[in-house]
Amino acid sequence: MHGLPFTAPALLAPMEGVTEACFRDLVLDRNPPDALGGAFTEFARVSQQPLPERVLVRHLGPRRHAAPVGLQIMGASAEAVAATARRAELAGAPLVDLNFGCPAKGALRGCAGSALLDDPPKVEALVRACVDAVERVPVTAKIRAGGDDDTRLEEIASAVEAGGARLLTVHCRTRREAYRDTADWERLRRAVRTVSIPVCGNGGVEAHADLAALRAETGCALVMVGRAAMADPWIFSGRVVERAEAARFLSEYAAALRADGATPHKQAGRLKQLIRVWRAGGLVEDEREELLRERDDRRLLDWVEREANASQLGPHAATR
Ligand SMILES: Cc1cc2nc3c(=O)[nH]c(=O)nc-3n(C[C@H](O)[C@H](O)[C@H](O)COP(=O)(O)O)c2cc1C
Repeated sequence: MHGLPFTAPALLAPMEGVTEACFRDLVLDRNPPDALGGAFTEFARVSQQPLPERVLVRHLGPRRHAAPVGLQIMGASAEAVAATARRAELAGAPLVDLNFGCPAKGALRGCAGSALLDDPPKVEALVRACVDAVERVPVTAKIRAGGDDDTRLEEIASAVEAGGARLLTVHCRTRREAYRDTADWERLRRAVRTVSIPVCGNGGVEAHADLAALRAETGCALVMVGRAAMADPWIFSGRVVERAEAARFLSEYAAALRADGATPHKQAGRLKQLIRVWRAGGLVEDEREELLRERDDRRLLDWVEREANASQLGPHAATR
């Protein structure tokens, strides 16, 4: 697909603290490769030294899928990021993605992530350093529409292309807009008009129908989904699941976290992260607030288990 290893034009966004292997694998298992074309690790943060290979191996996780999982790197030192990109390739990453969008204070302090949106020549240099460092895998880049405003969008997009990236993902919000509700798809049209490499549009996809709508309305070749995939992991295939199947996702997620060494407290925290936005199967509609208030980790985990096992007993058999 466009000379890239993706198996379909819809991708799961990189999300720190969410798209670790435990969550990613479940989403990739539930959406066939002709519906979900690829995913990304959460960002791997590089400071002055390249990351050791074992860290990259951990980001990539133990499993491989038909759809590729790109390793995302964030950093400001072109040398260290490029050396990390090469190590990522050697660790088995099918592609390397560079983060120019993170608005977190830590990233800005290190002049990385979205801080680089104010310095397009630096973006170009970083992309080029990585392109030169890897031998085979494509280098891609993910930007926001700008820093304080979107006036430099074309300049930033052109810098990514000039550096040799094979795909430009545009999160259509600016750094200042952070994660606000509105997403301006006109900015995606502008990016598409600016570069000749494929553009992946991101921001504001809420439902399965939006996957096609975004591409049709903007001319983007690909589309990336973040938070809506936390609310409904089946969004890529468009399958509507029953309550018990939705609960089984959460219970398998807890089990995967447990197998990965997470404490019950961490498991419950990660479950709440999904429950806060969850829509699939009508599972938490009535009890969302109550579940989020639950302080007893065990009780939350037990509720998920009961719901997941309730399929033989009828749709609403499990009660707290
Ligand atoms: C919890 C969270 C963590 C994120 N972490 C990353 C990250 O590691 N790398 C990145 O490029 N973007 C990250 N993002 C941004 C998403 O990839 C995406 O661009 C953004 O959520 C907009 O897409 P959406 O409207 O579909 O959610 C994160 C977003 C969220 C909500």
